[in-house]
Amino acid sequence: MRGSDKYRDLINKIINMKIEFEKRRKQIMKMVGSNAAIIIPCAMPCTRSRDVDYLFRQDSDFYYLSGFEEPNSLIVLIPERAEGEFILFCKNKDKLKEKWDGPISGPEGAIMNYDVNEAYPIEKIDEILPKLISEKEFLYCPVNINREFDQSINNWIKNNNKKNNCNPEIITVSHLLHDMRLFKSQSEISIMRKAAKIAAIAHRRAMTIVKPGMYEFELEAEFIHEFRKYNANHSYNPIVGGGKNACILHYISNDSILNDGDLVLIDAGCELSYYASDITRTFPINGKFSPEQRDIYNIVLSAQKAAILKVKQGNQFNEPHDIAVKIITEGLKDIGLLRGSLSSLIEKRAYNRFFMHRTGHWIGMDVHDVGDYMVEDQWRLFENGMVTTIEPGIYIDDDEDIPKNFRNIGIRIEDMVLVKNNTPDILSKNIEKELNNIEDIIKN
Ligand code: GLY
Ligand code: MN
Ligand code: MN
Repeated sequence: MRGSDKYRDLINKIINMKIEFEKRRKQIMKMVGSNAAIIIPCAMPCTRSRDVDYLFRQDSDFYYLSGFEEPNSLIVLIPERAEGEFILFCKNKDKLKEKWDGPISGPEGAIMNYDVNEAYPIEKIDEILPKLISEKEFLYCPVNINREFDQSINNWIKNNNKKNNCNPEIITVSHLLHDMRLFKSQSEISIMRKAAKIAAIAHRRAMTIVKPGMYEFELEAEFIHEFRKYNANHSYNPIVGGGKNACILHYISNDSILNDGDLVLIDAGCELSYYASDITRTFPINGKFSPEQRDIYNIVLSAQKAAILKVKQGNQFNEPHDIAVKIITEGLKDIGLLRGSLSSLIEKRAYNRFFMHRTGHWIGMDVHDVGDYMVEDQWRLFENGMVTTIEPGIYIDDDEDIPKNFRNIGIRIEDMVLVKNNTPDILSKNIEKELNNIEDIIKN
């Protein structure tokens, strides 16, 4: 692409995103109606140690509606307000602060660049916000998530109540907003596909360099390298677990040596432009699966493939898990790690000893994304535009009753799957999972 084409492409992307943010605001305002106002607080900066903060990351709901990334801000949406529906409170510009920490939009910049109709300095919120919401019957906002924010809402209402006897009902906005977020637009899907591609390249790098005697963190370094090359960051703490560490589901210390003959399980994904990828691959450190590792790998892979095929419009969310449970139980029975009839092993959940987590979760702006899994006590049906992970696993501890060669094998295979009519669309398909292909990558 030539320089000018690249520039035009970037401008088009920005315009498209602005249209999308506006469409979302209109949609949520339509849902709540003209008797209501919506208030969304931003994320809180968080201290890491002493005067060092964690990297600030805007709250997903806040970003979803605005694209505005600065802390100390708050969105107010007032449907059908003649003077404008989108109001933002944010930090004022401050030359000295900007010298240290970088540019601040300020109210004028927010109006100019984020399609805000009215913007005010955050310091004026107690004075201005109660007036904005004074005639509303309903206030939609996150409830019981941020105590400081809950307190502020109560104060603003109390303030109004004293002056003009107004007492709006507070309703959680999360269900409405999160149901919108569950359905991904074309532009969201294309970012997620890219986030998956970046993570896939990193997984391949790890397979290419792995050797007995390396440390887990040396493989982790490959992910940091690849993610930062694309201005992405980890979407969660990566798991790089060799041998028995692969059996610890939330292992994140990643500081052990990788031993000849063991497998390594890597669960790592990135966040790109506020969208997460989440991929797991498991492979032999010396490049060759042992017969027992091969057996277990094949069970997990069959379960994963069968579960992916269940990600179809109209199927229940639980169908991938049910089939994964069946195949894993059958497989463990075939190799003698479970004994009894298939139906009773499933009924008694005997598989829980080796497969103790669910098969998937929604993924999007958050790695464990928002959206209900049940509707009126029934599993939700898959609909086009939803994205779920499919990640069955088998984890065999170092227990006396387990034949020696099966001990300390932990295997999970995880992909991200978009619901698309009858054909599951695997967003993370760019990284191999067939046993022989994996061995070839490591060998070469
Ligand atoms: N990496 C988190 C998960 O797989 O759920
Ligand atoms: Mn996952
Ligand atoms: Mn994962």
